[in-house]
Amino acid sequence: MWLADAVGADGRVTTLERLPAKVALAETELAEAGLSERVRIVEGDAADSLGNLEGEFDLVFLDANRARYVGYLPQLVGLLRSGGLLVIDNVTSHPDEMAEFLEPSALDRPGQRCDDAPDTDETERSPW
Ligand SMILES: C[S@@+](CC[C@H](N)C(=O)[O-])C[C@H]1O[C@@H](n2cnc3c(N)ncnc32)[C@H](O)[C@@H]1O
Repeated sequence: MWLADAVGADGRVTTLERLPAKVALAETELAEAGLSERVRIVEGDAADSLGNLEGEFDLVFLDANRARYVGYLPQLVGLLRSGGLLVIDNVTSHPDEMAEFLEPSALDRPGQRCDDAPDTDETERSPW
């Protein structure tokens, strides 16, 4: 919602969400805020959806299952335009859960799959 507001009338936000109930909630709230036109919600697991995204993004905000961040990294970097910004939530609050991701060598593992990490997603229970 904040990103949709921040991009302005000509900006666009693409968001990935696998839970249908959260997709429905987001659609309702975006409509109420008059922001639906700015947001494309891609329903499904990010491990699948990321490979289908096209275009160049100015900013990527990563806020999901932290153990899987390292697997997402090559695709996310590939989607960013040159000079684009990758913002990662919880880096200072939960560094232990993304230790591999924080290694300088994380980008040297292009063969790693997004779904290699166990799918124990605390973010579905806690907003933070
Ligand atoms: C912490 S919440 C994100 C909140 C969002 N940044 C916001 O401020 O509204 C994490 C979201 O990621 C979704 N999620 C977690 N793992 C996912 C995956 N593999 N694919 C798609 N969505 C996922 C969860 O269902 C949850 O809605």
